[in-house]
Amino acid sequence: MIYYAVEKHLDDIEDPKARIDRLVEELNHHNYLYHVLDAPEISDKFYDGMFRILLELERDTGYIPPNSPSLRVGAPPLDKFDKAVHSIPMLSLDDIFSFDEVFLFDQRVRDILETADVVYTAEPKYDGLAVELTYENGRLIRAATRGDGTTGEDVTQNVMTIKTVPLSITGDDVPELIEIRGEIFMTKADFDALNKGREENAKSLFANPRNAAAGAVRQLDPAITAQRKLRITCYGTGIIKGLTLTSQTELVSWLKKHRFPTPYRFQSAKGIYEATDYIREMETARAGLPFNIDGVVVKVDEFALRQRLGEKTRSPRWAVAYKYQAHQAQTRIINIVPSIGRTGVITPIAILEPVLVGGVTVSRSTLHNWDEIRRLEIRTGDTVIIERAGDVIPKVVCVLRHDAASDTQLAEPEVCPECGSKAVREEGGAVLRCVGLNCPPQLHGRIIHFASRAALNIDGLGEKIAVQLFESGLVKDFTDIFRLTKEDLEKLPRFAEKSAVNLIQAIEKSKAATLSRFIFALGIRHSGEFASRLIALHYETIESLYGVKADALSLIKQMGDKTSSAIAEFFADERNIKTIETLKTLGLTITNPDYGAVEYKDEYKDEYKDKDTTDVKDAGRRLAGLTFVITGTLPVARKDVEGQIRGAGGAVSPSVSKQTTCLIAGESPGFKLDKARALGVRTVSYDEYLAIFWPFSE
Ligand code: IVH
Repeated sequence: MIYYAVEKHLDDIEDPKARIDRLVEELNHHNYLYHVLDAPEISDKFYDGMFRILLELERDTGYIPPNSPSLRVGAPPLDKFDKAVHSIPMLSLDDIFSFDEVFLFDQRVRDILETADVVYTAEPKYDGLAVELTYENGRLIRAATRGDGTTGEDVTQNVMTIKTVPLSITGDDVPELIEIRGEIFMTKADFDALNKGREENAKSLFANPRNAAAGAVRQLDPAITAQRKLRITCYGTGIIKGLTLTSQTELVSWLKKHRFPTPYRFQSAKGIYEATDYIREMETARAGLPFNIDGVVVKVDEFALRQRLGEKTRSPRWAVAYKYQAHQAQTRIINIVPSIGRTGVITPIAILEPVLVGGVTVSRSTLHNWDEIRRLEIRTGDTVIIERAGDVIPKVVCVLRHDAASDTQLAEPEVCPECGSKAVREEGGAVLRCVGLNCPPQLHGRIIHFASRAALNIDGLGEKIAVQLFESGLVKDFTDIFRLTKEDLEKLPRFAEKSAVNLIQAIEKSKAATLSRFIFALGIRHSGEFASRLIALHYETIESLYGVKADALSLIKQMGDKTSSAIAEFFADERNIKTIETLKTLGLTITNPDYGAVEYKDEYKDEYKDKDTTDVKDAGRRLAGLTFVITGTLPVARKDVEGQIRGAGGAVSPSVSKQTTCLIAGESPGFKLDKARALGVRTVSYDEYLAIFWPFSE
């Protein structure tokens, strides 16, 4: 089909050579639309069809125009590159790192030129490799690397494979000779894809797009270069014969006209402040650009002025490179250690050979999680790339080389490095978490939760006091709360006798807990107030939960699998049980008014008879101690619901207060809903109420 369409497209041309010329012209045009402007007008299929017909015609006639896209496919490999001498040395630029230095540059320029106003240009400093393209009578005859500035390597065959490099230029303003200078680079996306492919094939990785691009240009087989998806941007010239260009702005227009890619957001800057504005804007845009830039190049626009400014040995006086701070650096992993955070997550941390990244010395970096270590096969001694973007904690991006001497990967710890409790895998396995109730880094959060209103409700023990208790050393361990005395507290700054007495009284009061509140107070993952209450409905004592199996817990209707596992893991840890037992010796008593209001289905009875057989007991106690408020229209008569609650030992109150257990909200709820929200009282729909409090009634 495509062949037919292409044939038809060429219908009016008979002569095979003329057909070839036409195909070359069209293919180059569409190549430009696709690769430079990113705005294709024909399908890939049609392009490929034209290309194949071109190849056939070229083969049949032996006629290959010098700008034929068939020349881009890659010539045979070379033994070595020829030397390429630059007729005008390719200079480098002075790097500067602050606006003060930009202003000094401007001052020097204006001093030499003795003018007040200078027009500059600003363009990104592409992080790639410099090349020079020589066009003789419009035809690309040589591409050379910069080398030492005077002599580079002839990489013509490789550069010809880059789709955005014009093989020929036409028009009445095409000079006899022009050397065009630019930067070859690779986009971040193409680089990532390249490294991903290499990783899958167990090949060593490239540290960054620049190395990958440079490697592709400076290797001997053009066919490999052709696969690497290189790009070019053009920003300067060497020798020009037969054309006069007077400024950078004019050069960029000429380059664009002749279909050379030019620097992204090339801009003229009237005065140095427009240049510094540009530098700021580009820095913000930098992370979101599809390619890496490492700064901005500020140049004097007019060539005549450049002439007057002249050059130093290695760099011109008419341009500077403002360099941004690097986000990435290469270093070595000295050690890998587990580290535990305040939520109990145990993260592997790489201890690094110190390296400067973005102006900060980095010597530690997170390795995220244990799967990541396995995935990247990270070991001690490895050379890695680390990245630090903004204030973000540095991270290891990829491993460049494995240290041959070290073949041990860090094994994931089985116990918490801080407290020795079990380390449990969760959330699909990637996260490792310590279940220790008494784990020092977690203590702060755990105690605040333990004392909170819905837990043991220790009035007066909030965030602020908790911090004081830790900092003074009075509370070093979870059980220390129950050991506090009035005298201890009075020693603390700003602690009056009255508040000390009040807090001690609140702590004493909290020692008489109900099982559901106590379970909730333990702060077990995925176990909120309702899960805790469900457990209390089924398990009479805290001791009956010691060593409980997740399977047994998940028999409880409404109980999620995650909650069941988390609770089982918690009670499988002997240290946690010891902590609870210590709390008991310090006065903790646990009653369970909720227990026994549910019946197990018969088939489960035998299987779990040791732990879970509970007979139907007085259903009247199911809601004992709970206060409900109802608002809005319920799907059943409100008085029936009220009767149900009261019949089960619960209370129904007309107004929401801090004491309200739960607000049941029906259709068009009233202001009670706002009040409940303001007080942090739990709100449930009628269906949720049934599911939570009557899980076994169908
Ligand atoms: S102009 C006389 N413009 O930076 C110097 N260079 O440190 C002419 N570079 O060797 C260079 N982007 O490889 C210029 N927009 C840009 C550039 C750029 C990247 C590289 C180039 C040069 C090096 C100088």
